[in-house]
Amino acid sequence: MSKVEQYITSIPDYPKAGIIFRDITSVLKDADGLRLAVDEMTAKIGDTEFDAIVGLESRGFLFGMPMAYNLHKAFIPVRKSGKLPRATSRIAYDLEYGSAEIEVHREDITPGLRVVIVDDLIATGGTLEAAVHLVEQLGAKVVKIVCLLELKGLHGRDRLTSCPTEAVVSYEGN
Ligand code: PRP
Ligand code: MG
Repeated sequence: MSKVEQYITSIPDYPKAGIIFRDITSVLKDADGLRLAVDEMTAKIGDTEFDAIVGLESRGFLFGMPMAYNLHKAFIPVRKSGKLPRATSRIAYDLEYGSAEIEVHREDITPGLRVVIVDDLIATGGTLEAAVHLVEQLGAKVVKIVCLLELKGLHGRDRLTSCPTEAVVSYEGN
């Protein structure tokens, strides 16, 4: 397991009884933790060739942007609906309770663009699955997914079989 794990704070019974919340703000507030997290996520891209990092609002921005900066690649934000000013494509997806919608500027995702999708966490995998569909329906190719954390007990990876998926830290439960 990565040394990043020591910078993650686990909060029992948040936001409800029985859930252990994995808080990444304690990674960000430590200069060594922040550098380690960004560098290890960057290393997970390996020698995969790609054109742009697609980061998922909001916690995916925290890691995707410094990764793109370090690698001198473009950064494209996928945002929750209603925030982007140019023409967008949207996709709705189910949450544990209710649903959500994310969108991207349509002209930013050009056919054949090779993207790495970055987020902080794979829980159910629903957010990442929706993001893959969103960019691939515009003709891009998702060549890798990179996250900081994975909650293996929720089997989110099973929904992300179309491309290699990497996580720096894995927790067995949910
Ligand atoms: C959280 C987390 C991931 C997603 C993981 O985002 O940052 O994006 O949920 O869950 P899933 O695998 O079950 O889809 P959230 O929507 O809470 O918003 P935030 O990033 O803006 O905090
Ligand atoms: Mg999120």
